[in-house]
Amino acid sequence: MPSKIILDCDPGHDDAIALLLAHGNPEIELLAVTTVVGNQTLDKVTRNALSVARVAGITGVPFAAGCARPLVRTIETAPGIHGDSGLDGPVLPEPAIDLDPRHAVDLIIDTVMSHEPGTVTLVPTGGLTNIALAVRKEPRIAERVKEVVLMGGGYHTGNWSAVAEFNIIIDPEAAHIVFNESWPLTMVGLDLTHQALATPDVVERIAAVGTGPARFVGELLAFFEKAYQDAQGFDHPPVHDPCAVAYVIDRAVMTTRRAPLDVELTGTRTLGMTVADFRAPAPTDCTTSVAVDLDHERFWNLIVDALERIGEVEP
Ligand code: BDR
Ligand code: CA
Repeated sequence: MPSKIILDCDPGHDDAIALLLAHGNPEIELLAVTTVVGNQTLDKVTRNALSVARVAGITGVPFAAGCARPLVRTIETAPGIHGDSGLDGPVLPEPAIDLDPRHAVDLIIDTVMSHEPGTVTLVPTGGLTNIALAVRKEPRIAERVKEVVLMGGGYHTGNWSAVAEFNIIIDPEAAHIVFNESWPLTMVGLDLTHQALATPDVVERIAAVGTGPARFVGELLAFFEKAYQDAQGFDHPPVHDPCAVAYVIDRAVMTTRRAPLDVELTGTRTLGMTVADFRAPAPTDCTTSVAVDLDHERFWNLIVDALERIGEVEP
């Protein structure tokens, strides 16, 4: 049985690749795609999501726009990493599908509540505003979702401050809500995603697929590489968000460690830090884990395999 997921995202180069992976892998049933302000404004990331749907040939999946600003903080976007459009690099096709009329928060709630308990996984790859509001509006989803596997945070480094990661620091209050719910939660943070580098061999393998969607990913990665070189001193870009989808597909793609997690809301230099308590033994009621080590080859095999399965898509 494929895993049923809701992808809550802010495309975003790596969000786009996460969407392609979810669509192209037979172990995933994509129930809904929801968007949230993050890498760019809500309008831009939503349009990007719909454009990626066209590139990948995704039809029959509801896409809904969510929150246009964080719960408390002012909007912070990431044009230095994702460009003015949020998805700079490739030419973005006009969307071919319409948005679902519901707010993303309602689509998330409706989707979780209309499926059997314990069957829907939430995969947030942006700020956690939509997810936090969904669980506040309908608290029963906390018991009903199977698990939350999110890209965000980290336990020994940050990328937007010395200790905070972008998806958490743009809406730390929302992250605090999500991290403190009772659902099983895996934090796929920077410790893990900084291992998911799009090295030249990976780029070559993707180019060899030779289809329109693969060329699209190649163009995304070319822009992403330059941005990460200029902004953060990487040789090759860390492709964060598909790591969360990959973990839903294949537990063996990474190792994880159980640890209580929380989000710092009051530190003057540590706002948005995700604090993992690794003291042994972990409490028996601890439902949170952090991703530690990535199997690089297994991960990129999943991406290449998804692109091969998607194949050529009619423009
Ligand atoms: C996260 O921030 C965004 O820029 C990426 O899409 C990813 O979700 C990495 O810190
Ligand atoms: Ca993202």
